[in-house]
Amino acid sequence: MSVPNDRSVPGEAPTDPPSSVRRRILDVLLGVSFFTWLGSVVYPVVRYLLPPEGPALEQRTIRVGEVKDFKKNSGTLFRMGAKPGILICTPSGELRAFLAVCTHLQCTVQYKPDEGVIWCACHNGRYNLQGINISGPPPRPLTPLQVKLKGNEVYVSLA
Ligand code: FES
Repeated sequence: MSVPNDRSVPGEAPTDPPSSVRRRILDVLLGVSFFTWLGSVVYPVVRYLLPPEGPALEQRTIRVGEVKDFKKNSGTLFRMGAKPGILICTPSGELRAFLAVCTHLQCTVQYKPDEGVIWCACHNGRYNLQGINISGPPPRPLTPLQVKLKGNEVYVSLA
């Protein structure tokens, strides 16, 4: 006498797992796939929108360079934490620094040596070399930074 090698009962059709079990397995796989896809879409968007991490701006003192690096009547941009800063070497050779963030809509400002002003290209805003808004839409002066010399090295920190 032979013994059947499967679990089927003689005379009955072979049993499949109940359809509710298969449905649950599919639901779990679909859920995992959905959340994986969602993470791959949301994570890059969130990383793009959040500013890069850095030490708090209040704690930052930045070495910008050496005195010889800055020609008279020039402006140099640098990073001050997550924000840009600008170091101006005036026509007389004095060093002044500001956050290079326009007080209108936060565009990055630059130095215009031909006019001797700090200029915002977004809406043609202008600041004098003390950082005071003199024309265009900027409502307030630029945020001043403190410039310190240690030997020949130039350091900038919040004023
Ligand atoms: S953002 Fe600078 S003038 Fe508008």
